[in-house]
Amino acid sequence: MNDSPFSEAIATALPILQRMKKNLRGAPTASRSSLERLLSATHLPDGKNSAAKNQKPVETIPMKPSPISHPPSPASSDDGRLARLEELKHNILSCTRCPNLVASRTQVVYGVGNPFTELLFVGEAPGEEEDLRGEPFVGKAGQLLTKIIGAMDYTREEIFIANILKCRPDMPAGVSGNRKPKPAEMATCLPWLAHQIDLIKPKVIVALGLTAVEGLLGEPRTMRDVRGKWLDYHGVPLMPTYHPAYLLRNQTLAEKRKVWEDMLLVLERLGRPISAKQRGYFLEKE
Ligand code: URA
Repeated sequence: MNDSPFSEAIATALPILQRMKKNLRGAPTASRSSLERLLSATHLPDGKNSAAKNQKPVETIPMKPSPISHPPSPASSDDGRLARLEELKHNILSCTRCPNLVASRTQVVYGVGNPFTELLFVGEAPGEEEDLRGEPFVGKAGQLLTKIIGAMDYTREEIFIANILKCRPDMPAGVSGNRKPKPAEMATCLPWLAHQIDLIKPKVIVALGLTAVEGLLGEPRTMRDVRGKWLDYHGVPLMPTYHPAYLLRNQTLAEKRKVWEDMLLVLERLGRPISAKQRGYFLEKE
């Protein structure tokens, strides 16, 4: 096999394109700028990729079969998971199981992030901002969650964030704010999350707040009993911690540290490196 950087780049891109072709049931295309990025990623000295340079610019290219062999990559070994996730997403986004929520929602909030992640955060339900933007945890509590994720050395794109309820719980006309999901709403919506978890296959789930714990375990629990302790969701380690909205209401170092200690347990469980600086976050200054 030719092991030039260009061949390596092609070998990396090919399985992704093949997967796209399969999942899209048609030929994938690439924009000119994507192709240019791919070419520049090979770092060939000037002139060496002149064949590519001399090609006429094209806006899109249909994928052609190629004889290049390539090593298996996570992208090519997803066992059709991506296609099943796309189908699930389509079904979730068009759900009409709760007539009251269908009537009040702006849109269904499916979830966001990497569908092949090792780490899944589960919250309660979309609030007003999430309902408007179609993305979980984008309001004030969401901004705090994003900071926690960053402190763990992840980005929102690397992990997945979902909620027990996919629609914002409806509020009486003229009343602002958010309400807790009702047990019947949770029971109706939970199969969607269960299906998402089944396909995403995270190594660890973090339950943000008691509604998430109750939804995942199927029974109410108390924070005192569960916070910071490993539980089990159908074989997946489950770490309950405070909801970020709780931290916004209780901004003491001690409460922040509790959540952070839970996240350190999560990082340890995932075998992620933890720096001394990370270990020391939210400790009392001596
Ligand atoms: N709170 C949640 O539990 N989920 C969201 O998506 C936003 C706020």
